[in-house]
Amino acid sequence: MTNAAVFRPKVVVIGSINMDLVVRCQRLASPGETLPGTSLQEIPGGKGANQAVAAARLGGDVTMVGKVGNDAFATTLLNSLRQAGVHTDHVATAADCGSGIAIIQVENSGQNSIIVVPGANALVSVDDVHRAEAAIAAADVVLLQLEIPVETVAAAVQLARRHQVPVIVDPAPARTDLPAEILSADWLCPNETEAEVLSGFSVSTPVDAANAATALRTTDQTTVVVTLGDQGAVCHTGEATLHLEAFPVTPVDTTAAGDAFAAALGIAIAKDCLPAMAVRYAAAAGALAATQPGAQPGMPTANAVDQLLDNYSPSQHLL
Ligand code: RIB
Repeated sequence: MTNAAVFRPKVVVIGSINMDLVVRCQRLASPGETLPGTSLQEIPGGKGANQAVAAARLGGDVTMVGKVGNDAFATTLLNSLRQAGVHTDHVATAADCGSGIAIIQVENSGQNSIIVVPGANALVSVDDVHRAEAAIAAADVVLLQLEIPVETVAAAVQLARRHQVPVIVDPAPARTDLPAEILSADWLCPNETEAEVLSGFSVSTPVDAANAATALRTTDQTTVVVTLGDQGAVCHTGEATLHLEAFPVTPVDTTAAGDAFAAALGIAIAKDCLPAMAVRYAAAAGALAATQPGAQPGMPTANAVDQLLDNYSPSQHLL
């Protein structure tokens, strides 16, 4: 993707903005258990804002549509977006409401567990999406996730489609009640857990992921990519199902690896990459994000992704 670096795809991200309260611990606490933590940090996060920052670091000209609360976190959250070069004119401040908060435990293996209190994210409305229509119409790709109201996500898919702008939906956190518009996005990129919830199939192997992806592909225009952590990713286009093995990295914190994946997929699609190449680029970005602590601070640059792709080529084969 290096020779296309002069083209800056226009990316619109509509989604959540959270302050992550991150506790590092030796292992995740079980129900009813009390464990010592080793540190507590406030780190800008939220699936939408993470994707916006990642897309900007990967060379996108990014506009964020979302809401922060009327609190001290809002300034830090807006600054993090702006420092990455993300346009924040469509980020509103909700009166009488706090910013979204995520309580995150990260264990030594890099695995995490997350609880989100939506705050202002719950107020991102269909009207907010319509106010951003000019940006959406001019975009090369629109990125969506499910930490804002589902009717807002559905309206954004419809509006992008009206303007013939490709849409990627990262269906996270997973829910079973998604309307058909959302499932008919151009790209769906669940992780294994989300693929299980959405398809009703159990997903622990690439073959399981291929079956879930086939079930989730409800329209001809949709491509489904299921991410599988250290088992790589499976991409089902309708014509073919491809398994890409994982990049060999040592995870430090897997928080937001999926957000980096979705953002990089968006950049690659905006640059007209074929699905196999787009998924490879996305997987490289996701792998790099997992090697760094924290959500937004851990998002990789375009140079880092290009370097990983130059140094390592995971095998890929048809299923
Ligand atoms: O995908 C990771 C993100 O999920 C975290 O940054 C947290 O805010 C939650 O939204």
